[in-house]
Amino acid sequence: MSLKITVIGTGYLGATHAAAMAELGFEVLGLDVVPEKIAMLERGETPMYEPGLEELLRKHVAGFEGSTGRLRFTTDWAEVGAFGDVHFVCVNTPQRHGEYAADMSYVDSAISSLAPHLHGPALVVGKSTVPVGSADRLAVYLAEHAPAGGDAELAWNPEFLREGFAVQDTLHPDRIVAGVRSERAEKLLREVYATPIGEGTPFVVTDFPTAELVKTAANSFLATKISFINAMAEVCEAGGGDVAKLAEAIGHDDRIGAKFLRAGIGFGGGCLPKDIRAFMARAGELGADQALTFLREIDSINMRRRGQMVEMTREALGGGSFLGKRVAVLGATFKPDSDDVRDSPALNVAGQIHLQGGQVTVYDPKGMDNARRVFPTLGYADSASQAVRGADVVLHLTEWREFRELDPAALGEVAAARVILDGRNALDPELWRRAGWTYRAMGRPTA
Ligand code: UDX
Repeated sequence: MSLKITVIGTGYLGATHAAAMAELGFEVLGLDVVPEKIAMLERGETPMYEPGLEELLRKHVAGFEGSTGRLRFTTDWAEVGAFGDVHFVCVNTPQRHGEYAADMSYVDSAISSLAPHLHGPALVVGKSTVPVGSADRLAVYLAEHAPAGGDAELAWNPEFLREGFAVQDTLHPDRIVAGVRSERAEKLLREVYATPIGEGTPFVVTDFPTAELVKTAANSFLATKISFINAMAEVCEAGGGDVAKLAEAIGHDDRIGAKFLRAGIGFGGGCLPKDIRAFMARAGELGADQALTFLREIDSINMRRRGQMVEMTREALGGGSFLGKRVAVLGATFKPDSDDVRDSPALNVAGQIHLQGGQVTVYDPKGMDNARRVFPTLGYADSASQAVRGADVVLHLTEWREFRELDPAALGEVAAARVILDGRNALDPELWRRAGWTYRAMGRPTA
């Protein structure tokens, strides 16, 4: 008999995981406590923009013509408890308001809502990013509150997907990490992943704390790489070097690697910033805060880049006040191929200039609705060329392909001044310079 799978929480992680499990041939039941989300998913729509996800949903959501019907959704915990052999907990752990620590309330409430409905053997698999020690605590709770007692077991299986590549990363992960306490739990997880997902993929079996830490350690390392290259950009700015060349050269060393060395306005989004902060907070609680003081510096280098972009813009406008200056901002999301503006460096820079009196007009291929909601007082345009019309300076702050494919000559016709500042080091400097633009990028010499 094939395993039946439930997925609790249908945000980024959960919606993708549910669709991917159905793609692998499992019968899947997804649960969310927000009925509107369930209604959307049942229509084959996602609350966020993620390439390929709606197609995958429609391929499997029951009720679609030609769909496999393997994927259904509900808001009913009893139905979930009765249906699943394996329950994946995919809820969010945002930064707590006014604190660095992670907000565990969604995870805690998922486990406490599910537990009373586990009457027979079941494996509850946490995928959320949680502070080390959470799984130990949740396992005790589960054993005490599930009618099945010790037969309702916990495992921890962190997820490493990136926004914009969520489907691809879920179906083709770099590794699978299984935090387990029994052979049975390991066997069940291996069975779930004994599908194309698991073929040739390293399967790392570990205890709970290590599984939890793998995720926060990986994100801390990635954040460190970005802030490292941004620190080098600062030194290049002071000493006249070219950070893009420097990154290229050090990246040829296999031990360093070329990825995640793109200097610019730094990292944002719903994961890296909050994860390194929650990690520091948890280390503090454990009395190991000294081990992670370097992450404070990583955070501070990262946040500084935004202010430096604002100052670079001021300088490009001749110094002084932004009052009366027209600034076009290309990009609002924290990264391309996503509509996510959470902790977006692009929107932060746009907002700072606006709050200092600049007339800011933003355009983003997918993030306009979210940006308008978060920052309604900024100006918004329907296209890049509309945003650039009459601008004294253009800021490239999210590296969408659409922006790399812009025609600098045509844009030069509508801009008030041909000055572009590349906050992502992603445009071709020569292309813009040939069209008469002054092109400047962070950490690179002005040609
Ligand atoms: C990240 C991790 O990559 C993923 O494994 C984890 O599961 C969740 O967090 P994500 O938040 O989707 O994924 O974005 P990511 O692609 O890691 O980029 C994060 C930020 O870093 C973006 O704002 C991006 O623009 C920035 N970045 C990335 C750089 O500034 N320079 C780089 O070289 C790479």
